[in-house]
Amino acid sequence: MDPIVIAITGASAQQIAERALQLLLGKKYKVSLILSRGAYEVWNSEIGVNIPLDPNLQKEFWLNRLKVSNGKLECHKWNDNSANIASGSFQTKGMIIVPCTMGTIGRIASGFSLNLIERCADVHLKEKRPLILSPRETPFNLIHLKNLITLYEAGATICPPIPAWYTKPESLEDMIDFLVIRLFDAFGENLAPLKRWNGPKI
Ligand SMILES: Cc1cc2nc3c(=O)[nH]c(=O)nc-3n(C[C@H](O)[C@H](O)[C@H](O)COP(=O)(O)O)c2cc1C
Repeated sequence: MDPIVIAITGASAQQIAERALQLLLGKKYKVSLILSRGAYEVWNSEIGVNIPLDPNLQKEFWLNRLKVSNGKLECHKWNDNSANIASGSFQTKGMIIVPCTMGTIGRIASGFSLNLIERCADVHLKEKRPLILSPRETPFNLIHLKNLITLYEAGATICPPIPAWYTKPESLEDMIDFLVIRLFDAFGENLAPLKRWNGPKI
């Protein structure tokens, strides 16, 4: 099975990425994970957790934190541009960036691949493989919106973390699950059961 590339950048809503990772590894998907430099900062300031930089230590950290014993996870440093996933010759199932900052959106839209996340997104577009972007910012400025259109036109799917209330969520966890499952709907994978809209009950 080819891996799914999950990239986490330094936007708010890291919990969505964490839950996605937990569901994927729990279902034995193979995951290649990259955190941007900004993501480590957000984990530190929003969640009060210092994620290890070293790929092996980080793999241990995630497996312990997510309570998945045998997940097929490979962690990469954001600046490791010689990683397997930096090349189009390495096969993947596709890539999801969640949450995705406006900085990362802008750099991918302009083809300015500074780090492994941006390079890998560039590769997914050129190889015409699925690239799902979950941009998190509010409000968007004109530059953000134009960059999102550029990426959409280049083949990416834009799937922002926007909640819905028709599933009658009872907790933040319900809401996060909704966002994660809809994200993977866009990727073509049914990650977990979800109360879906089935028309109004008369
Ligand atoms: C606590 C915190 C929350 C942030 N939230 C966002 C956000 O929601 N969206 C965004 O575009 N940038 C956000 N930023 C700013 C980015 O982290 C910053 O622009 C960073 O350089 C992005 O780098 P990256 O795209 O490589 O992760 C946040 C920063 C911090 C410290």
